[in-house]
Amino acid sequence: MKNRTAKIPAEDLATLWGKVTRRRSFLTGAGLAGAALSSGQLMARDSKDDGDNNNNNHNKLPKGDVAILKFLAAAELVESDFWRQYNELGGVDGGNAAYKSALENLDEDLPQYISDNTDDEMSHAAFLNAYLKSKGEDPVNLDAFRTLPSSRATGARQIGRLTNLMSLDVDTSWYTRYRSTQNPDISGSFPQAVKITNQPAIPVDDADTPPNQSQPVPPVTPRQRRMQAIANTAGFHFALFDAAGSSVYTNLIQSVTDPEVLRVLLSILGVGVNHFAVWHDKAGNAVSDPLAGVTDPITGVTFPDLNAPPFGGELFQTNLIFPEPCAFINPDFPVCSVIRPSSKQNAGAVATATAIVNSRLFLGQSQAFFSAVGALAMAADAAVRGQSGGSQD
Ligand SMILES: [Fe+2]
Repeated sequence: MKNRTAKIPAEDLATLWGKVTRRRSFLTGAGLAGAALSSGQLMARDSKDDGDNNNNNHNKLPKGDVAILKFLAAAELVESDFWRQYNELGGVDGGNAAYKSALENLDEDLPQYISDNTDDEMSHAAFLNAYLKSKGEDPVNLDAFRTLPSSRATGARQIGRLTNLMSLDVDTSWYTRYRSTQNPDISGSFPQAVKITNQPAIPVDDADTPPNQSQPVPPVTPRQRRMQAIANTAGFHFALFDAAGSSVYTNLIQSVTDPEVLRVLLSILGVGVNHFAVWHDKAGNAVSDPLAGVTDPITGVTFPDLNAPPFGGELFQTNLIFPEPCAFINPDFPVCSVIRPSSKQNAGAVATATAIVNSRLFLGQSQAFFSAVGALAMAADAAVRGQSGGSQD
């Protein structure tokens, strides 16, 4: 358990992930990506996919669809893992009263929303795996990688985790991206709304943030400010993940062949968009009156008033929560209010996994974990719409 919150250089994560993704261009160039990677190191076997394409099973999905479903099942398992941690501490039955109070400062219903979002992600993971099994495919199982320590704060169960919420770099450019008329798939720059680095999104231990302290608005003592900054970080992290999820589903759907798989993914996508809209609204409450201005006394992360100078305006005003119409497909077309990005380069499986790695959510994970996730992501990105018969190549 020691050093679980110690600052580990981001380069270490980048190195682990880079070992995986450097293989990508070579494999893709050689036309081998699907063939070489579709088995994925984390599946015990893929007995239906033994290289023999002489397949008479009419229930069998195209190989690309299977790769997409498996990557998304893994993503939903990752999501479920960190939502469970939020739920144990700050959900409607969460065990950390001060954390719940700090979350309620963003919205009094936040613990309920956390519990419901947790249920939704667990349902997505369980459904996608059951669906894969129904098609004769192996489900995705990441249990071997549940090795990361839990928070020591009151409320957290002491079990192994896939994800680490205790030292996040939260990319908050989703906030300005959805307020901008520019689209990252075409061009544009999207500043961070709040600079959140090396910051916990859940309480780390009871000495750091006593579980029964009050959480007034605004917070007064250093420990109250610390806890509020942690809850505010959670607020921005919730929205980040659902923005990324909406983009990666929108991208991968474009490579799906089977109509029923299309129905499954579109139907799940809609719920991610729903979540994002709510979290976008709630995150704004951390950076507007009366809560704005909290600084974490340990990390220095500050949540400014985004409605006041030098902020405010189209890019920062907190009630501008509906997506601004933006450039789409061709900058000569009229702007259109859409999910953004949705290109493979910016919202594909590898791009999304890379962003998650860079957020330090997997801090402490093994090379085997990164290899497994990388293989799933590369196989999903290699899927091509319209290819059937259980073969991609
Ligand atoms: Fe989900």
